[in-house]
Formats: sequence, structure tokens, C-alpha cells
Amino acid sequence: MKRALKIALKVLLSVIGLIIVLLIAMGLWYRANVIHSEHPKNFRQAEVETISVAGYTFRDLNGNDSLDIYEDKRQPIEARAEDLLSQMSMEEKIRILKGSGMQSAMGLIKPGEGISGAVGTIVPVARLGIPTLYLSDGPAGLRINPRRKNDPRSYYCTAFPIGTLVASTWNTELASRIGDAMGKEMLEYGIDVILGPGANIHRHPLCGRNFEYFSEDPVLTGEIGAAIVNGVEANGVGTCVKHFVANNQETNRMINDVRISERALREIYLKGFEIIVRKAQPWSLMSSYNRLNGSYVAENREILTDILRDDWGFEGVVMTDWFGGSNAVAQVAAGNDLQEPGTRKQYKALKKAAASGELSEEAINTSVKRILKLVLASGKMDGLPFHNDPDLEAHALIARQSAAEGMILLKNEGALPLKQGLKVALFGASSYDFIAGGTGSGDVNEAYSVSLEEGLTNAGFQINPTAKSYVEEYKAAHPEAFRKPKGTLQAMMNPYSPPEIVLSEEQVRELSTTSDLAIVTIGRNAGEGGDRVEKDDFLLSEKEQQMLTTICRVFHDSGKQVVVVLNIGGVIETASWKQKPDAILLAWQGGQEGGNSVANILAGKENPSGKLPMTFPLKLNDHASNANFPLEGGMMKLSDFLDRTIKPVEEQLANIDYSNYEEGIYVGYRHFDKAGLEVSYPFGFGLSYTSFEYSNLEAELADSIIKVQINIQNTGEVAGKEVVQLFSAKPGTKIDRPKQALKAFAKTPLLAPGESTVIEMSVPVPDLAYWNEDLADWTVEPGEYQLLAGASSRDIREQTFIEL
Ligand code: BGC
Repeated sequence: MKRALKIALKVLLSVIGLIIVLLIAMGLWYRANVIHSEHPKNFRQAEVETISVAGYTFRDLNGNDSLDIYEDKRQPIEARAEDLLSQMSMEEKIRILKGSGMQSAMGLIKPGEGISGAVGTIVPVARLGIPTLYLSDGPAGLRINPRRKNDPRSYYCTAFPIGTLVASTWNTELASRIGDAMGKEMLEYGIDVILGPGANIHRHPLCGRNFEYFSEDPVLTGEIGAAIVNGVEANGVGTCVKHFVANNQETNRMINDVRISERALREIYLKGFEIIVRKAQPWSLMSSYNRLNGSYVAENREILTDILRDDWGFEGVVMTDWFGGSNAVAQVAAGNDLQEPGTRKQYKALKKAAASGELSEEAINTSVKRILKLVLASGKMDGLPFHNDPDLEAHALIARQSAAEGMILLKNEGALPLKQGLKVALFGASSYDFIAGGTGSGDVNEAYSVSLEEGLTNAGFQINPTAKSYVEEYKAAHPEAFRKPKGTLQAMMNPYSPPEIVLSEEQVRELSTTSDLAIVTIGRNAGEGGDRVEKDDFLLSEKEQQMLTTICRVFHDSGKQVVVVLNIGGVIETASWKQKPDAILLAWQGGQEGGNSVANILAGKENPSGKLPMTFPLKLNDHASNANFPLEGGMMKLSDFLDRTIKPVEEQLANIDYSNYEEGIYVGYRHFDKAGLEVSYPFGFGLSYTSFEYSNLEAELADSIIKVQINIQNTGEVAGKEVVQLFSAKPGTKIDRPKQALKAFAKTPLLAPGESTVIEMSVPVPDLAYWNEDLADWTVEPGEYQLLAGASSRDIREQTFIEL
């Protein structure tokens, strides 16, 4: 018996030992193949000397004491890249086609070896003086680790407002100022390419990443995106516009097959990217995870080469999304130059394909040369030092001003602006815990974030302490419900959303006697890796409804007003409750200064001028895309990053394995207008504390450009800005076309009461074309076009016609 026990114990110990050895081996394999794809020794940079030859001073990057073409900054970049390419071995070329792995992002680097939190690299070639380039997220500001091992200093970045809010400003000049500030932070922190902006279309309100994207409309998307890119890149650093293309759901995002017509692809999903490429020529683009009509976008030559490069003239680099796609060889052949973050497996596959000739030398050279051009354009190639000392104060001011300009006043029945110094009963957990931005790679590690409570206090309002104490007591009793996830990954898997508290009628009544008004914040948080759901997210939860109903009834009974602040990243249902409060401010997620921005609007220091970049529908099902969107939610698994198993056709599920974009071009207002559906708030809607009159719309055709001008006058009592939207329509067309489509927009400067201005916009005639599937080309129908100038898509103020 004793012996049997001994043997059993021995076997057990051996099995445990074996499992441990296996786990260690797997860990080491994973580290060597996935986390690192390059040995750290490859990152050692040689000292570069600056020398002079024939009166020209340059950095002797390859240390050969003579001037090579690629070292000569007087030469065109094309010739420099060509020369550098010619000096590289095949091994060096293969290595530069993929990044070095995820070690910086995972904090697995020694101090001084890389930039902690940067998610990707372009690998160096020390022999030729090619430096390591660092790539880092993301659309709302730089995301690097704010703290480093054994380093007392901090590396915080500015959390700017989310992309959707920036689009809601309809102010390209402001968008470019935000980009400029991001670019300056990149320069300070040694980041060469920022992984943003995000330019996917809001196809459906529940896409978990909509907050990173701009709009349901491609023109607004393209113009705002181009402005940000230009702002960032004016600093000599690069952007990576993502996720190219049709990445409109997070559910099964790594393999979901988007099935879409050529026309919808061209007119809706590609269009925004096309505008950005044509107007800003970004340094790089990120191919999306999803498949498109059967093949991975990252392997799709028609998209990445024929359309992007040959049609639009894109000159930059295309990189994969992180661990995106499945076949590195097919990716390079298609025009997806760079594999990120880069794995050993990709390296081996590329090397083998190069040796066998499966991947042509020409394809390799084409991609490597594009990467080299990006490297040559970077300050890193010139040895520019960085100082880790951004002007966070100045950037916080930009964040505050831009957030206020993109917040949208949805309703105001005499409640706003508020009188100075009022006593405010502040309800809703997010009032005290304001949400600055979404989760995942779109998050930013900022030094602080201003809550609504702090913002209101800063603006001189008095916060009712009893209302606050209810939240605090509840928090103390339920600490686990308020525990914030640590780190990007946890936050992404489990977005923080503090629970609501339902106060009794008596408690609310008591608060109404000691306050002048109620402000109720409704908060929502979502992000990468999961889509939102209808229950308790798109729809208000039962607790939120109860809270709102009781507060409105009780405060109104005592003659006091209620203001709702929506601290959300995506569209929610508003039609069933919007009649209850006196005012609704859609504050979005305004970045680290969000609370101050809201307070400035509520106090009337800023006059709201944001307008909706998407429709707020009555119900989810009113969206045509609702018929083909995953409505179950659910978070992706980490293993999804590496597993590309595609199920047999008979097992594939709609909206998970594939998504049929049956609605075609009828996305957002294009659908609501065509179907004649009532909406809660239309595309382009937003109120102001003043009013504007539109007059004298004129259009004139010259050199294939329609030049439009319109007079806008501030007819109210306070200064304000107005967003003018120009739609086109084709009366009597035989083609299935949207009733109207946005073609241009402009924002007035701040107009004093009574002041007017003439706004000029232009529409190149080709922008009136539709994608003709029979001809596989753009077609401009001849005849009469209607031009409509509106304060929203459903508030057209002036119209005129033009004959083509
Ligand atoms: C996201 C990208 C992001 C990348 C690096 C991916 O999961 O889809 O948007 O830039 O990670 O963090």
C-alpha cells in the first residue's frame, strides 16, 4: 500500500514537473516568436559620425568615410531610398518587412532600450545607420506607459477628446491644431508614427470602436481625418490612418468576412480614406483585420495597390493591424508592406518565400523601399534627439477648447446657460467619475482627468454635498463595483462603468429643496474587442430611467430645472426620455479636460457649436444595417489574435463569420431620408445659445468646380459659431441615389450678435458622381443638381440649382 502510494506520488510529481517544463518551453517559444521577433542585440546602434566631404557636412551613416546618395539630404528622397535599398542584403530586407515584436508594449524592455508602451517598431539596420522607429497608439492622443522601471520621472500624454467629438466640431482648423499638439508630443517622446486617426464609418451605433471614428458620413470623416493628419505630420512625424477598410464591428473582427457591393465600398467605406489620402498623403495606413468579400484586406491587392496606390496616388506604407491577416507572403505581394508587431513565424515565411521565388524580389524591393522612404523622412534618421518634455499645459488647453467646441446641445428649454454660482444637485455616478475616453488602444495614459464635479466647482457652482455623499456612501459599501481595471488589457476586457444608485423620492425631494437645479450624467464606456448591446447600453437601464423620472418629477414639482449630460462614446436611445429634462448636452467623452469643457458650456462661457456627425435614431432597428449586425455583444478572447481558423461554410454564422452589408449605400441619414423615417435627432443637428439666419446662397461653375457662397448672420443675443452643411441632390434621377448627400461644410468664425459673414465652399464636379457598377467607374449624371444649405440634414435653409 505504502509502495503504491509512493509510486503514485512519484508519477504525480513527474507529471507536474513535465507540465512545468512544457509551460516554460511554451513561454520561451512565445517570447522568442511572438513577443520578440528580433534579438535585442540587433537594436544596438552604432555611433554615427558627422563628417564633411567637399564642403558638405553629413552623417556618415554607414561609416565608410564617403558621401553616399542616401546620406545626402540634398538628393530627392526617391534616389536616397533607391541607394539605401541597393546597399541592403536580402536578410536585412526581410527583417525590415516586419516589426520587432511586442516587447516595448509589454514593458519587457530594459531601461533605455526602447520606448515603454510603444506597440510596434520598424527594425533598425545598424550597419547602414538605419535607426529603430517607434509606432504607438492612438486616435485620442499618444498612448505610452506613463511610468518606467527605476525612473522617477513620468511620461504622461494629453488625452484629447475622442474622434467622434472632434468630428462633432466640424472645424478642420481645430482638428489640425489637435493633430499638431499630438505631433509635438510624439516628437518629445521619440514616437515616429502615431496609430491614428481612425476613419471607419459608423455603420451601426453599436460598434464598440465608434468613439475612435468620426461619422456615418464619408465627407465629414475624410475632411476631419485629413486635417488631423496634416496637423500631426507638419511636425515631421507620421500618422497611420486606420483601419483600412470596412472594419465596422468588433465581434469576430480578426476573421469576419464583410460582404459588400463595390458601390457601397467606393461611395461609403473607402471614400473617407480616399479624401484623407488625396488631401493629406499620410505616411502610412493600417490594413484592417477583417476579410472583404472572401479575402483578408491585408492580402487584397485590388484594395491595397490598384485602388489605394494606382487610383488615389498613395505613396506611403501599409502596415497590418496588430497580428492581423494570416499569410505574410500574400500580404507583401498584395502591397501590405509592413507586418506588425512582427513575429518570427512571419520572418521565416518571408525568408522561405524569398528564397524559393514565391515572393518576387521586385515585390520585396517595392515594400522595403516604401518603408525606407518613411524612415528617411523621420527625424530619427537625422539623429534628432528627443527630450521627454512636452508642453502638457498648453495641450490641455487645446483639449479643453476643442472638447467644448464638439459638445452638442440637443435640447434647451430655457434652462441654459446657467446663472453663476447656482447650487447644483449632481446625480449619476459618472458625474463624479467622468469618462475621458474609450478603452483599448484608443485610450490614453493622461496625468489627470477633470470630472464634471470638479469642472462645475472650477466654474464657480456649488455642488450639493448630500447628493455627493450618497454616491460616496454607496461606493464605500460596494468597493468592488467601483474598482477600476488596471492597465489597457483589463480595461479593454472589462470597460469600467460605475453602477447607478437609485435614490428614494424623499432623498431627491430633500435635495431639491437645498439645490437650485439638478444635473444628471448618463455615462457609457466601450472600446476595442467588443461591440455594445441594446439592453442597458443603447437603452437606458431601468435604474437610469427611474433616476431620471424621479429627479425630473420632483425637481419640476418644486419649479426647478433638470439638465442631462451625456458622457458617452456612441449613440444611445433618447426618444423615450428626452421630453423629461429641460436641457440635454451631449458631452461625448471630452478627454482629460472634459469636466471643465462641460462646465464652461453650462455656464455660458462657451456657446455650444457642435453638431451631430451621425443620426440619433428612434430605435436601433430603424438603421438598415441592424438587420446584419451582431447584436449579442461579447468580448474577444486573447487567443483570437493568433487563431485564424475559418469554419466550414455550413457552420458559418451570419454577423459573426460574415456580415452582409445588405443596406448598401444606405448608411445613416442616407437610409433615414430615403425611408422617410422620423429620427430623434438628425445628422448635422445641434443647438446654440444664439440663432443664425442663412441668406443669398449662390453657386457658380468654373473649371469643373462649383463655387458656393452663403451669407450667415448671428441674429441672437450672444456671440456664436455656426456649422453650415452643403448637401447635393439630383432631382428626377433614374439612378438609385440618396435623397441628399453631404458635399461640403464650413464653420463660421465667432460672430458677434448681429454680425454676418460670407461662407465659401467648393465642390469639384467629380464629387457629384456615383459609382456606376455597370461601368465599374464613377459617373457624373448630366443635368440639374440641387444644392441645399442646411443647419442640419433636416433643417435646410437655402437652396439653389446648378446645371451640369
Ligand atoms: C488595434 C489597433 C491598434 C493596435 C496596436 C490593435 O488591436 O486594432 O487599432 O493600433 O492594436 O495597439
